[in-house]
Amino acid sequence: MSPSRPILMAPSLLSADFAALGASIRVVEDAGADLLHVDVMDGHFVPNITIGPPVVKAVKRVTGLPLDVHLMIERPDDYLEAFVEAGASLVSVHVEVLAHLHRTLHRIKALGARAGVVLNPATPVSAIEEVVGDLDFVLVMSVNPGFGGQRFIARSVEKIRAIRQMLDAAGRDDVAIEVDGGIDATTAPLVVAAGASMLVAGNAIFAQPDPPAAMARIRAAALGAAR
Ligand code: DX5
Ligand code: ZN
Repeated sequence: MSPSRPILMAPSLLSADFAALGASIRVVEDAGADLLHVDVMDGHFVPNITIGPPVVKAVKRVTGLPLDVHLMIERPDDYLEAFVEAGASLVSVHVEVLAHLHRTLHRIKALGARAGVVLNPATPVSAIEEVVGDLDFVLVMSVNPGFGGQRFIARSVEKIRAIRQMLDAAGRDDVAIEVDGGIDATTAPLVVAAGASMLVAGNAIFAQPDPPAAMARIRAAALGAAR
């Protein structure tokens, strides 16, 4: 069994008040968030359209937290530089759109950011087998990407377990697994017990009456399951 990893909380700005992003960020930053998860959608890879580099740049100005930029776009290669320049510390790209994933991961790293690969719910674990030595983190989608507030897909737990086994067998116990979609105080312990340690949560934090208390509940539930 791998050594226990710290649990990192990554509130997703998608569920924050876009008209008051600075204030929303301050609330979760003061409450001890570890990262800020930023969802970039292009209306092609996913049915929704959200934000681009100018907003990432503005967010960067008001926070010291690392920005965890999740690119749900058809042509991520065209925008890597813009997002890193805007302030992304972590950049994750979907395996489903990348014919040359190996090259993309190394480009992200060369730009100075941490490189993550994202798998949609229908994408098999084997899709990342050949790049296990090249990635910095794996992001498992536990909903179909595009919107916040969707229901957690239970099958994701098995998938996380399989990815953790694959990483550990390859000597990559330094690689963290991030989970995104439907994470709350009930699902967090399930994914953490399976080997995840970075938890994205949008609705379960920002849509609650007391976001700091909601984040604390998720973290406490996760810590109870940490391996
Ligand atoms: C969905 C996004 C998520 C989203 C998660 O496509 O990638 O980051 O904000 O929202 P919740 O936590 O509400 O499922
Ligand atoms: Zn996301």
